[in-house]
This record gives sequence, structure tokens and C-alpha cells, in this order.
Amino acid sequence: MKKILVVGSMSVDLTIETQRMPEQGETMKAEFLELFCGGKGANQAVSIARLGGAVDILGCVGSDTYGEMVIENLRKNRVGTEMVGRSSSALTGTAHIFLINHDNRIVIVPGANDTVTPEFVEVQLTRPFSSYSMVILQNEIPSETIRFIVKRCQEEGVPILYNPAPADVAAGDLMNELTFLTPNEHECGQIFPQWTLAEAVGKYPNQLVVTLGSKGVIFHDGQTIRCIPAYKVKAVDTTGAGDTFNGAFALEIVRGKSIAEAIQLANKAAAISVTKKGAQGGMPTEYERQQFNS
Ligand code: ATP
Ligand code: RIB
Repeated sequence: MKKILVVGSMSVDLTIETQRMPEQGETMKAEFLELFCGGKGANQAVSIARLGGAVDILGCVGSDTYGEMVIENLRKNRVGTEMVGRSSSALTGTAHIFLINHDNRIVIVPGANDTVTPEFVEVQLTRPFSSYSMVILQNEIPSETIRFIVKRCQEEGVPILYNPAPADVAAGDLMNELTFLTPNEHECGQIFPQWTLAEAVGKYPNQLVVTLGSKGVIFHDGQTIRCIPAYKVKAVDTTGAGDTFNGAFALEIVRGKSIAEAIQLANKAAAISVTKKGAQGGMPTEYERQQFNS
């Protein structure tokens, strides 16, 4: 089977657990800081690899120790890192995460992720896009790069899954070129403000797949709206649930599953992932997913 290619961000997540956010002008103490490997691109690639998929990632880190940590983690998870660059000027991207009541608020500092320009992609790419079964994109690299890759993949006939997170209101302009657009409910509302959720999925059957957190996923199968429920678990940290879902969904589509089957398997992987801390901490292997009983 051909490999999957993820082009996207790779970062270090600095997670602080607190009871609440500080008020304006207030200083608060947190118990501890934890460092995890994250970034939406890296998370999605690791999700695929843990589930047994063959995957490469193209992106950039700095020449700092965080960069070493990110690359080592990708390698440990069997993600192909041949196309990961090291910037001599920009620092490795970081995400500053406040974990409050098992939910999160995130501020990202893109750093080297912002150096993933179309020119950078041309230089780093060692194989044509057409040698991959699917290309996966998110919005933590420059938007001109997203557009460049979408155009190239369309020319080369490569399926594209675009997870428009964080939201880019212009993502809807690319619908003619995409195989799947996978926003969460909030992003879907920002991209298609003219429509309700039901109207939006109805406009793009079998293409617009919207994640609804603990409620599951909604899409239109061409005949009717389908809601595939999430699995019930005790959530500890939902950071990266969307990334686990996207990686797993893409892999199951490439493996030949129907959209509904792929969503169900991806929901299961994402539910398992939220039971542990860190975006990648709870991502299951194929065996762990098979053993899971909700
Ligand atoms: P994030 O930005 O935190 O990575 P997201 O907002 O992109 O996530 P969500 O819609 O919150 O994505 O979640 C993606 C999928 O993860 C859901 O469709 C569901 O399958 C699973 N999921 C998320 N939260 C829970 C939960 N509390 N319990 C079970 N499954 C969950
Ligand atoms: O989707 C979760 C990811 O978003 C985190 O790992 C963090 O890096 C943020 O960018």
C-alpha cells in the first residue's frame, strides 16, 4: 500500500494545568508544567503510524533542543522524517496550553512552522505527491502553502484531506479540489456562516465531515444526514482528539473502508486518545483499539 503524506506543523506543547484562567493583571501559580510533542501535523502523522499506517511528514523545526525532541519522537513512532527541515533562524514551534477541567485553551507560536513555504516544500519533497495514497493538511503552516499543495495534488490526482484547524474562513473556496474537509463544529460555522450545520453537510455529501467533540461526527451520505456517535469515555485531556480522529479517518479510507466505517474507527481511536494526557499520549495502537470496549 502507498504511504500517506502529512504536510504540516510540528511543535512542543507546554501544558499547564490550572483550575481557571488568571484575571487581567493577576498572577497565579500552577502546580507543574508538562512538555509533550504536538503540532497538528505531527499529531496526525503519529496517529496514523500508531495504527499501523505507513506515513511521511514534511515540515520544519528549529536547530534547538525542542527540534531534536520533535524529530526523535517522530522517529520513535515510525513516522518518516526525511523531509523534515531544520531552520537556522527560526525556533521550533511551541503551543502554550492551559488545561482547565480537562478542556484546553491554546496559544501557538508558529516559529519554524511558518517557514514551510511553497519554496520550502519544493526543496524538501523527495518524491512526487502522486507516489502517496493521500495528502493531509491543516492550518498551522502558511495558507499560501496549503493552496500550493492543493493545486499540485489536484494536478497529480492525489486525494487530499484538509483539516481546517485553526479555522481559515477561506477554506470553503477549495471544496472543488478537496476529497475531504474535516472541520469541527465551530470551524464549520466560521467557514460556512451562511448555512446551518445540516445545510452545510447537505451541500457537500461524502466530502464535508464535521467533528462534534463528545457528540461524535456528522456528514451527509448522499441520501441522508448521518450522525456517528462518539464512544463514551472519561476524558482527561481532549488536546489532539481532532488530530487522532483525522489521522485514523484518513488511514481507514486509504485502507478501503467506507466513510461511515472509517468515522466509526476514527471515533474509537479519538475516544481512547482523550483518556490520557498530551496530544499524543493516549493515541492507540491498532491492538489497543481492537481491545477497547466502551
Ligand atoms: P482538538 O482541537 O482538541 O484536537 P477538535 O475540536 O478538532 O479537537 P473534536 O470535535 O473536539 O475535534 O473531537 C474530534 C473527535 O474526537 C470527535 O468527533 C470524537 O470522535 C472524539 N472526541 C472528542 N472529545 C471526546 C470525548 N470527550 N469523548 C469521546 N470522544 C471524544
Ligand atoms: O490539535 C492539538 C494541537 O494543536 C496541539 O498538539 C498543539 O500543538 C496545537 O497546535
